[in-house]
Amino acid sequence: MTQDELKQTVAKAAIDYVVDGEIIGVGTGSTANFFIDELGKIKHRIKGAVASSEATAERLRSHGITVFDLNEVETMPVYIDGADEINGSGAMIKGGGAALTREKIVASVAQKFVCIADGSKLVDVLGTFPLPVEVIPMSHAVVARKLAALGGEPRLRLNKNGDGKPLVTDNGCYIIDVLGLAITDPADIEDKINNIVGVVTNGLFARQGANVCLLGTAEGVKKLE
Ligand code: 5RP
Repeated sequence: MTQDELKQTVAKAAIDYVVDGEIIGVGTGSTANFFIDELGKIKHRIKGAVASSEATAERLRSHGITVFDLNEVETMPVYIDGADEINGSGAMIKGGGAALTREKIVASVAQKFVCIADGSKLVDVLGTFPLPVEVIPMSHAVVARKLAALGGEPRLRLNKNGDGKPLVTDNGCYIIDVLGLAITDPADIEDKINNIVGVVTNGLFARQGANVCLLGTAEGVKKLE
């Protein structure tokens, strides 16, 4: 099976976690996109969705799913999203798609985080995937120096079109990707990086990790909880 087929399989399996008549939180990325396509098929069963990015909102609307502003929603039973890495305790690195801050905000309102990922995302120690950190643009150099002092190698993320300019997030901020961190204590690193002035948030989801993870493997969908 290809990686996309594995992502599609877990996206389908995640439909079991959708609660009828409720609002669902929806993540960002290719796995989340497969999930949105599945959600479109059962859209009559849900009240609507809260999106973790402009791209997700657009895809949800293209399926005729009502997108709610998070400020109108007090709680939701479930948030479903992919991950760049996940460990056996449900701690994750997210933000490969630059949506980490909105993902963390929407997840914080949900009672349950269901992570959907292909099996390659499961790791023993987080940190092979560079850790995304969203920063206020005027602070990127000072934050980068502080991230280097923590032992990482910071790189400002640039636009994919090759114009040499920094990528700008949905929140008007920049992303610094931090290479070379062996994250043995994810909650501690999450706190330390969030405490750097100028950081909006970082892509470690350890303080609130996944409650359930559906992993796509050649042997079928494996559930970690
Ligand atoms: C976006 C994310 C994604 O969940 C993460 O990058 C995984 O993406 P994909 O499903 O495309 O592998 O955190 O900010």
